[in-house]
Amino acid sequence: MHNDLANTIRSKIDIVDIIGERIPLVAKGKNFFCVCPFHDDSNPSMSISREKQIYTCFSCHATGNVYTFLMNYEHLEFREVLKYLGNKVGIDVGDIHVSKKNNKFDKLYEAYNLSLKYFQNNLNSNLGKQAKEYLLERKIDENLIKEFEIGLALDKRDDLTKILTKKSFDLSTLNKIGLSTDNYDVYCDRIMFPLYDISGKVVGFSGRIYKNNNLNKYLNTKETEIFKKGELLYHYHIAKEECRKKKSVIIMEGFMDIIRASSIDIRNTIALMGTALTKEQINLIKRLSNNIILCLDGDDPGQLATLNIGDALFKVGIEVKVIVLPNLDDPDSFILKYGKERFDGLIDSAINFSDYKMQRLRENVDFRSDEEKANYINKVLEETAKLSDPIRREVVLKRLAKEFDIGYNTLEIRINSFIKDDKKQEKIFIPQKILEKKDKYSKAIEQIIYLMLNNDWIITQVEKEKLIFPTEIMRTLTSEIIYYYKKYGNINVADFYTYIQDKENILKFLNQVLASNYNETTNKEELFLYFKVIREFSINQEIKRLTGLMKKEVDPLEQAKIAEKIRKLRLGDN
Ligand code: GTP
Ligand code: MN
Repeated sequence: MHNDLANTIRSKIDIVDIIGERIPLVAKGKNFFCVCPFHDDSNPSMSISREKQIYTCFSCHATGNVYTFLMNYEHLEFREVLKYLGNKVGIDVGDIHVSKKNNKFDKLYEAYNLSLKYFQNNLNSNLGKQAKEYLLERKIDENLIKEFEIGLALDKRDDLTKILTKKSFDLSTLNKIGLSTDNYDVYCDRIMFPLYDISGKVVGFSGRIYKNNNLNKYLNTKETEIFKKGELLYHYHIAKEECRKKKSVIIMEGFMDIIRASSIDIRNTIALMGTALTKEQINLIKRLSNNIILCLDGDDPGQLATLNIGDALFKVGIEVKVIVLPNLDDPDSFILKYGKERFDGLIDSAINFSDYKMQRLRENVDFRSDEEKANYINKVLEETAKLSDPIRREVVLKRLAKEFDIGYNTLEIRINSFIKDDKKQEKIFIPQKILEKKDKYSKAIEQIIYLMLNNDWIITQVEKEKLIFPTEIMRTLTSEIIYYYKKYGNINVADFYTYIQDKENILKFLNQVLASNYNETTNKEELFLYFKVIREFSINQEIKRLTGLMKKEVDPLEQAKIAEKIRKLRLGDN
């Protein structure tokens, strides 16, 4: 472990900044709050303490320090986070070696990687000439081919299957992971685009036809344990970094659009690949940036998707921006026709989703008909009611009042009927229930552990007292706290987290303790009351155990001995 280095780096970083760069925070008292990215929510249930340098979600109990946050949020390994943060504060982490765990999917990744190399080779060989021409014709040059690792599946029916079986992959595996069907290759005579998971590993392919034939345009690898379409987004692993630099993310429909945008140095992009947006994907997108721009195809399906995706994101508290392309264009064709400058211009002039919706509402309304006009105004009010900013609502009302010569008050009364009560005020969620559900013993034990993490003197007291906690997990956690304290001479939760990050069982218990509302400080009298409760608990447990023993005991003499022990315990005389 690299605790000393990790602690040094951590001490130079403010967790509030790191989380704040990724999620909007609200200051409240001495803490900050945000919508927790680790469960589905739109309430600010995560609190971040600048003082303690930890975050805690009251709802899903996700808790940790800046390392665990980045590991979970960006799906990085500990040493990657260490490198990233070290870089930020100017500490060279060097090539630290943390033994990599064997992944049960390693074999799958290996199969896809071998296939990738094989496809890339084909495209560069003589047999790849026609495919290369097709790509160059579409203005996908050598640089883009390399950047996106584009390859070619040959028209040979079983080439890849043979290669992989020779490398000790059995046929049933190849069938299962979508590379073979029976003895044959799944992909024949298609240009191959690798698909990546969010950490950038190849987890499948999409193969495109490039000759005039009547087959499906694209053929995707079937879903496997590592390739779940609804849980990934094309280009995500690159967008992660780029979106932070550009402070926005652009969502497109297909990976051709992504490749084209990259050719004009726009890489803060992700593609949906022809599926409806899932919850998991929404959570992934939320992590990239607060500034989300939709740039879907200009045709009717593209515009319908814009409405659906915009609404889905609006529901989780995000108002996206929208770029509307000419009817027959997608980003790919637009950039090819008009170039970088015009596309940059489109990005700069993207409109708010609500305004886009208003525009759409206007379409095909016959304003000479009173009924259609009223209908339109009502719909606009209904949409406007969803805006959380009262100023924006007023702007719309004023415009409507003027344009249609309707009293402002009439509009205001109508819009208020649309505004939902729970929208009027945003609440910060503080759980009381978690504590109320626990019995007094658990509460006392967790309270003491919480105090130990915040006050050195309590650690000393607990040790002196030789307090015995009832469960293995509790005992392990407390002895780790004591050990850590002795080793480092002090304790803080954030660094202690780094220390126990691999010990999953106690981590879970620690999270439970941290996610409840315990007191941070205490005095001796109070502390001894907690001790008393715990001792009482241990005694009761012991009495229960002895009673059980006594019932089983056949020798009356032994039975009497046990009864005496129980009596003494009851008197508190042991
Ligand atoms: P090009 O026609 O090569 O320019 O591709 P495109 O990016 O314009 O694709 P399009 O807008 O037609 O579709 C968007 C995305 O939907 C693609 O990137 C694919 O992921 C997916 N898609 C399109 N056609 C098919 C198909 O026939 N089968 C499958 N499985 N997916 C498709
Ligand atoms: Mn296209």
